[in-house]
Amino acid sequence: MNTGKVDALLGIVFGDEGKGKVVDFFTPKYDVVARFAGGPNAGHTIIFDGKKFVLRSIPSGIFDEHKVNIIGNGCVIAPDLFMAEARELEAAGYDLTSRLHISKRAHLILPTHRVLDRAYEAAKGKGKVGTTGKGIGPTYSDKAARIGLRVGDILDGFEEKYRALKARHEQILKDLGFTDYDITDDERRWMEGVEYMRGFRLSDTEHEINALLREGKNVLAEGAQGSLLDIDHGTYPFVSSSSTTCGGVCTGLGVAPRMIGEVFGIFKAYSTRVGSGPFPVELFDETGDTIRHIGNEYGAVTGRNRRCGWIDLVALRYAIIINGVTQLVMMKGDVLDGFATIKACVAYRKDGVTTTDMPFDTAGWEPVYEELPGWQADLTGVRRESDFPPAFKAYIDYLERQLATPITIVSVGPDREATIIR
Ligand code: IMP
Repeated sequence: MNTGKVDALLGIVFGDEGKGKVVDFFTPKYDVVARFAGGPNAGHTIIFDGKKFVLRSIPSGIFDEHKVNIIGNGCVIAPDLFMAEARELEAAGYDLTSRLHISKRAHLILPTHRVLDRAYEAAKGKGKVGTTGKGIGPTYSDKAARIGLRVGDILDGFEEKYRALKARHEQILKDLGFTDYDITDDERRWMEGVEYMRGFRLSDTEHEINALLREGKNVLAEGAQGSLLDIDHGTYPFVSSSSTTCGGVCTGLGVAPRMIGEVFGIFKAYSTRVGSGPFPVELFDETGDTIRHIGNEYGAVTGRNRRCGWIDLVALRYAIIINGVTQLVMMKGDVLDGFATIKACVAYRKDGVTTTDMPFDTAGWEPVYEELPGWQADLTGVRRESDFPPAFKAYIDYLERQLATPITIVSVGPDREATIIR
């Protein structure tokens, strides 16, 4: 039988790899676009018909009336934020109810989850994760503790379940001495959001997606965050709380491993990280500032400065293995246009020990760099691989050798046409 496949499109470092920019290359080839992990902590900036949208929970196939979009069971969803996001799309003329399916098994982010997120961060003091404040960690905690509320719960006896979980949260907040909060407005909008969600197709998306695959339809699993923020494989405890890696595609959508086809790993020509946590390649000097400025590296959700550094091949090799990446997509090559020398971190060193394997804890490790000549030319107008400056071509060849994986798409500028397929 000719079944469809699930291809995964994953940010493979710390998120913010610029997926939104290439998504229009990917989505036309698929019948279904599905989100499998995370929630409104994501911010995928997508330009469609000349208009800019920031998608947080909604998959990026939403602009095409012929596609099925799925928010899978592995996701967490905040009804108020979902409503705001969806209404913006509706106002722009996109009909969501016919195109969007939401898993009944996805968990709900309550207003008190967001307060808990703040309270836990405050309690951590210096060791705080630097979360997006969207309640992600507390919601996944309740999921694991088997006390969470799921989307399907809003269809039956919801008020009581809501009140019980809210009371539980309030008690925790009281115990923590975190009492200076007021969720009245939030809660009103949140309840309005719940009502609004009832108008959507809340379904058993695990069955739907497998039925579509049996019909031969192809699915794009759209990643959020990045592999190094994965709850298991990331730089724990400075991670998000979901499975952002390829394994999360299976658990977060209810598809079997054998249904996975291509795994596209997206990375940037350099490194960034938002929030706290070890980041061996971080540059605190002018070079870091230049990368941030030219790359416009400021958070899409929180507006925070992103920490910047040279490319980290230790992290990339690790992410390629964990995800089974079959093809790489390199973004933002043009950001390095002005540098005479480009560095690549090939190993980490600490206390006289050198490793090329991702260590248990990356704190305190120093990067070991190799240097390559920069191309010092403007890449943004380049539209063909044959027009790549030799030093840029050499950088790509070098990365392919180091990573033992082909780089099949290269982006060299903000324009849609500045994305080159090799
Ligand atoms: P949380 O997901 O809000 O709990 O945040 C946990 C960590 O993941 C923090 O360091 C955040 O900055 C980071 N994070 C969460 N979502 C994203 C994202 O979409 N891009 C980049 N970093 C993210």
